[in-house]
Amino acid sequence: MEIETILEKYTGSQRDNLIPILEEIQEERGFISEEAIVKVSRFLKLPASKIYGVATFYDFFHFERQPAYHIRVCNGINCHLAGSDNILRKLEEELKVKAGQLTRDGIFKYELTGCLGACNSAPVIKINDEFYSGITADDISQIIEECKMKIKEA
Ligand code: FES
Repeated sequence: MEIETILEKYTGSQRDNLIPILEEIQEERGFISEEAIVKVSRFLKLPASKIYGVATFYDFFHFERQPAYHIRVCNGINCHLAGSDNILRKLEEELKVKAGQLTRDGIFKYELTGCLGACNSAPVIKINDEFYSGITADDISQIIEECKMKIKEA
């Protein structure tokens, strides 16, 4: 759905609809783009900086496309000692992007994180809400492949 189509639904509405408008745009597009902020700014006759300021106050708004799979590699002390660096290197090799970057196909993003609270199972990664415990760098290719298969099946 076009941003204009979403905005049309709020014709005649007041500025207090800013949050519902942004929520609907994010639900439709997956994130709030710069273009969306400019269009909402014109629509509500509010400065874009004000809209951005309000949106960044809430951590449920995203300003870049979100991956289908967000991989968090624990870098807490136990996981670090158990080889999280190797996992990180393998992810970089498999996905061909640096930590924090979205893959070209928009499917994956990985990053280092603090302790995930499963130290006895180190090293640990978390993909979206699912934990993978006691893994090694050798497991990464298969895990990535399984994620890709789930996307194809969906
Ligand atoms: S150190 Fe990795 S889960 Fe705690």
